[in-house]
Order: sequence, then structure tokens, then C-alpha cells
Amino acid sequence: MEMIVSTRPFDDQKPGTSGLRKRVPVFQQPNYLENFVQSIFGSLSGYEGKMLVVGGDGRYHNAEAIQTIIRMAAANGFGRILVGQGGLLSTPAASCVIRKHQAYGGIILSASHNPGGPDGDFGIKYNIGNGGPAPEKITEAIYAHTRTIEQYRTLDTPPVKLDEVGTVEVGGAVCEIIDPVSDYLELMRSLFDFEAIRAAIAGGLRIRMDSMHAVTGPYAHKILEQELGAPAGTVMNGVPSPDFGGHHPDPNMVYAADLFDLMMGPDAPDLGAASDGDGDRNLIIGRGIFVTPSDSLAVLAANAHLAPAYKGGLKGIARSMPTSAAADRVAERLGIPCYETPTGWKFFGNLLDADLATICGEESAGTGSNHVREKDGLWAILLWLNILAVRKQTVQEIVHEHWRIHGRNYYARHDYEEVETKGANALMDGLREQLPRLAGRQFGALTVGGADDFSYIDPVDGSVSTRQGIRILFENRSRIVFRLSGTGTAGATLRVYLECFEADPAGQDRPVAEALAQLIEIAEQVAGIRANTGRDKPTVIT
Ligand code: G6P
Ligand code: ZN
Repeated sequence: MEMIVSTRPFDDQKPGTSGLRKRVPVFQQPNYLENFVQSIFGSLSGYEGKMLVVGGDGRYHNAEAIQTIIRMAAANGFGRILVGQGGLLSTPAASCVIRKHQAYGGIILSASHNPGGPDGDFGIKYNIGNGGPAPEKITEAIYAHTRTIEQYRTLDTPPVKLDEVGTVEVGGAVCEIIDPVSDYLELMRSLFDFEAIRAAIAGGLRIRMDSMHAVTGPYAHKILEQELGAPAGTVMNGVPSPDFGGHHPDPNMVYAADLFDLMMGPDAPDLGAASDGDGDRNLIIGRGIFVTPSDSLAVLAANAHLAPAYKGGLKGIARSMPTSAAADRVAERLGIPCYETPTGWKFFGNLLDADLATICGEESAGTGSNHVREKDGLWAILLWLNILAVRKQTVQEIVHEHWRIHGRNYYARHDYEEVETKGANALMDGLREQLPRLAGRQFGALTVGGADDFSYIDPVDGSVSTRQGIRILFENRSRIVFRLSGTGTAGATLRVYLECFEADPAGQDRPVAEALAQLIEIAEQVAGIRANTGRDKPTVIT
């Protein structure tokens, strides 16, 4: 039976970089999730009788939330609700399913790489019919609804069995439980040379994939082990768990330390890879070499033509502003445009839809292409495998050759996690206040060429995004960027992005910390990180 439930607004439902993320107990408050879901529907129109895709990364509270969403979607008039079996859909697979089945949109439950469990994080975001995250126009409309909501619609139907593939009726809607992997696998088969990868693996190419107890487990088992013939055991931590085995499902050198150590040790396979909670991020490590996400984007763009889907070349490359300029060098050589967008995958959607860019990437371990409208961890890993299979060189050889041709952008990101919001804001305000005086300023041998607070005009729809991060650009192409994270759930996280460029192959083999040492000092000098945050070193360096 349909029910209309009275409710009162919560004042903290403003979506961040990637949907609404809060601690699990916040989402467990009565009506909290319901209010947000009703606000999503309230900001949409014309969905009656249409299809909604629903799935998540399997974290704590995933299954309960999915039942709520199924009931509310049916009560609000959706005609068909597609749900991944077990409530699972990786974020890129959800994007793929939305596109393939021409759904009206989708709801993805995830807090990405944030820890899960009863005290961990939970999240929800809405994706539009192109399979990509809702643009700001929609997220703002959702937020506006959350401020005035008075009631929501739901049903009092029993829970749907999520564990079996099949179809059931919920109110007036049809709810279909689908295999979460098959549509995605079919798409991957169409993009890459599975034959060549299979042959390379049969010929001795060794991979290790860390699924970090998160959603890519079933995808990686199926694709890497069953389809491509990698031996059992190739996928580690391959069973999704609600608390990710108590770990941070964040694929970086700190949280994927076991993989990192393996790759730096004597028994390292050829490629080490990892993906995050919801499967959209990736980590790539070769034998003895960590590939920064910015370099990975550049190498993938430079070699994409070796995979069937991209053999006609790329239309353009897009990267988020804090991502290093390594991709720009590739675009320059290929004679194609390189777009610089604010942080957040949603900014790539228009460029991909308009066919202005083919491959996109971010320093935050995200890479993807026009095959879906989300970043895609396994896609990046498969493209690397395709390249390794064709070039028959090691990751190290490929990366070093890449630097010789394009120059090396030394790069690091320093994160100061969960600092006091007040101090973090004061730091950013202090930088903004200095902006007019920075150009021309001398720091040792370095001269500031320009400084600004990054803003972006979307070339497709003309929308403007301001205050996207402070950039200090030096004349020698070095750069420091300061930004506050838009994805944290407690306090503020300051990110300092450091980059310098080395064209001379003789100087391309220095330790990163050494190459960036001077910039690290300048960052402290300009921003007063210690004074403003009370921290004398970053929480994490990636
Ligand atoms: C999410 C988005 C990414 C973005 C990242 C930045 O993962 O999907 O597109 O790059 O957040 O997060 P931050 O914490 O730096 O705002
Ligand atoms: Zn993610």
C-alpha cells in the first residue's frame, strides 16, 4: 500500500564533490535517507513509468538503503527498477547499466574509498541518463528540496530478495535483480583485445589485483581470472565485505601497502593494481615502480591507440586542474586539445557527451574514457594490460620511455586530514588575500609567474564554477595548488599538490621528495600550514 509520510528537513544534506556522504549513524536517523531520496525525485521530472538503476559498493547499510529506495522509487512512479544482485554494482558498472538499458537515471550507494562499517561512512548520489554524476544544477535542486521537504512517498511492501537474479513486482513497478558483472564484462570485451591479453598471460605476464575487500572482487575474479586466464589467487581481498575487512578501501601506497611491498620486492609480478570501495579508482604499480595517477593518465592517453576501441585516436584529453600537466604534453604531441576542469568527475560529462574528449583522468586515482560516464578502475587496469600485451615491455620501460619523450612531471599530493575547519578556512582565506601580490614574487631561484583561484567555464554549456583551488604557477612550470577536499565527512582536509617539470632525461630519476623539496618549503612559507592546522606533517602523501 502506498504511504505518504510526514517529515521535517535536515539542514546538512548538501551534496559534496560526489553526492551526500555522512557517517552511517547519520544515515540511520529516521527519515534521513528518505528525505534525500524524495528530494532527488522531487528535482526530476518525466520519470513516470521509466527505469531507475540502483546499486552500491556493498558497504554497511547498503542493503537496508536499497530496500528503502526500491519502495520509494515504486511509490514515486518509476516503472522499472534494476538492482544489482546482492545490492552490488560498481560505480562504473552502474554507469554502464544506465547507458545500456537507457534508464532514466540511477542511484549509487557508496562513500567510495572512505572506510565502512557501523561507524564508517555511507553515501548516496544520483546519476543522470548519460550514466554520469548529476551536474551541479541538479545537485543544487536536490539540496533546495531537502531544505523544504514536508513529506515523502513510500510503500509498506516486504523487502525484495536481493540475492537471486529475477523479477518481482513492487507496488506498480517491476523490480529486476540483475547480474552486476555481465553488462560490464560485455562492454570491456568490446573495448580491449582480450585475445592479446589472454595470450600474454598464457605466455607468462603476471598480474596481482587488490580488490581491497570491496566491490571489484566479483568483477576482477570474473574478468581477470575466468575470462583472461590469470591464475586463481591473482585477485586478493576479492570478497566484498560491509566494513572492507576493517581497512580503508583507498588504493594508494599507504592503504594498499601489502601490494606496494610485493611490487617493490623480489617476487613482484609485472603489474600490480588495486581499486577502491566502489571500483572507480585505480592504483597502478609496475615491478619496482609506482606510477602516479597523473603519469598513468598520460601513458594511457599516449598508448590508447593500441587497444581496439581507441585505434582511431583520441578527440581530446581532459584532466582535473590539480592533476599534473603530464597529459598536456601528450595532447601537445598528438595535436589534440587538453581540457583542464575543476576536481570532480562530473565536469568531464559534458566534454565526453560532446565528443570533445575521449580519455579523462584525475590525480585522485581516477581514469576513464567515453565508454561510460564515471571513472573506471578496472578499465584502467585492462588498458594497461592491453598495452603491456602489445608492447611487450615492462611498466618501468614504458614509463621511462614516456618521460624521455615528454619530460617528467614530478608530482606529489600532501593531505592534512580532519583538521579544524576554522584553521583550514583561514589558510585558504589567507592565500586568497595574497593572490594579487604573488605574481613576480621570488622564492630562491623560483619566480611566481601567476597565481589565481581556479575557475572554469564549461565549453559546452557555458556554466561557470569558481573558487576551485588556489594555484601558484612558477615560471619554470613548477606549481603548487591548495584545495580543501569536497569529500570528507569530518572537519576539513587540506590538499597540497606539488609539481615540477624536468625535460632532461639525466634529471628524471631523482627521488620525488627531493625533486619537490623546495616547493614543499615554499608551500609552508606562503600558506602557514603549521600555524593554521597545527600539523607539522601531512597525514598521507600520495
Ligand atoms: C571523488 C570524485 C572525484 C574527485 C575526488 C576528489 O572521488 O569522484 O572525481 O577527484 O572525489 O575528492 P576531494 O576529496 O579532493 O574533493
Ligand atoms: Zn570511488
